[in-house]
Amino acid sequence: MSEHFKVHGGARLTGEVQVVGAKNSVLKLMAASLLAEGTTTITNCPEILDVPLMGDVLRGLGCEVGVAGDTVWITTPAELKHEADYGSVYKLRASVCVLGPLLGRCRRAKVALPGGDAIGSRPLDMHQNGLRRLGARSEIEHGCVVADAENLHGAQIWLDFPSVGATENILMAAVLAQGTTVIDNAAREPEIIDLCVMLQQMGALISGAGTSTLTIDGVDALHPTEHRVIGDRIVGATWAFAAAMTRGDVTVRGVDPHHLDLVLEKLRLSGAHIEPDRDSFRVAMPERPTALDFVTLPYPGFATDLQPMAIALSAISDGTSMITENVFEARFRFIEEMVRLGADARTDGHHAVVRGVERLSSAPVWASDIRAGAGLVLAGLWADGVTEVWDVFHIDRGYPRFVENLRDLGAHIERATSPPQR
Ligand code: UD1
Repeated sequence: MSEHFKVHGGARLTGEVQVVGAKNSVLKLMAASLLAEGTTTITNCPEILDVPLMGDVLRGLGCEVGVAGDTVWITTPAELKHEADYGSVYKLRASVCVLGPLLGRCRRAKVALPGGDAIGSRPLDMHQNGLRRLGARSEIEHGCVVADAENLHGAQIWLDFPSVGATENILMAAVLAQGTTVIDNAAREPEIIDLCVMLQQMGALISGAGTSTLTIDGVDALHPTEHRVIGDRIVGATWAFAAAMTRGDVTVRGVDPHHLDLVLEKLRLSGAHIEPDRDSFRVAMPERPTALDFVTLPYPGFATDLQPMAIALSAISDGTSMITENVFEARFRFIEEMVRLGADARTDGHHAVVRGVERLSSAPVWASDIRAGAGLVLAGLWADGVTEVWDVFHIDRGYPRFVENLRDLGAHIERATSPPQR
């Protein structure tokens, strides 16, 4: 049996929604717990499948992991295993972030090439090159990344691209290397800052978090800590787009609006009233949105994870939008599904041109990854009739209480089970 969502179009979303911790932060923070012997506690964790999957990866390395509500405890032993279980890692892209901590702690690591979303090729060359600069050998052997080092030493590292994952892996190896490491062209995402804050609480010496140059002075050992995960800006922005698309009025709580400065400015330009507050923001859209262009880039640019939401909004906006994808080339697969819903959209290389229509038209559609799935549900909210979104396990990986949150905002959506449709 397969689960799908039935989305009844037409409801205007209003009210408040609480956002919890960021998926793209918590998984890295869980990996960082490998760096210190003892019990690390992480709070404000989202209740999504990826958290227990990451727990399985850590258990396979010898940790004890407990999950209760929004809190995760990880007890890391003095002697860690250095080989991550192939089956667990394969299920979860983010699990590759155990590579850096394992190399830091054990001076060797073997991690299967990860699985995860089908959004484009996701090589690990920058991760490996960075670890090599720290003195490690790193090869791909029998489907695994294998790394080992006699000694990890500080180094100057220039990333070709501000890769989130490469920055995190190199950072987590460098905190236990001898000497000073400088990562230039580092990623600046809020989740990187969150990781740096937790590592600093554990005793790491890091400066430059949130800038393109991270400087790390290696220490001999770190100690466990307690840390609260930052709110999920991608989930928060998803609700902001949902409000804008349905001409609604939604207050999003639990997200720092500064993490969404560009996104909220875009929505303002499309006609929404935006009221940012300290840890929340309100989005109210009085009339049909005006078409805008979007260009995805590393933070503080417009997040590639929000590209499907930008296309869904453009599909019903007044005018023509151009969306340029610069990070993951296969993300435009989403457009095929949008066309089923009546979107007037086509792609040319890494550009998509979308001419807004007044109303979309319901159809069965298939989610290909977490964010594409959320984008299809948003489109279904402004389609005539009942849109069925299939393969919703993708959405469940990234959005806790997705259906419940939408229903609380007034959407007519239900989860249904029936035999797979294809
Ligand atoms: C993370 C996020 C993902 C988000 C992405 C970009 C997690 C779990 N996932 O993914 O949701 O969409 O950042 O914001 O945090 N690349 C290479 N070589 C490498 C590493 C990356 O060529 O060694 C390329 C990738 O193919 C991609 C680009 O760099 O084109 C950005 O990837 P990266 O920032 O590393 O994304 P992830 O960390 O995988």
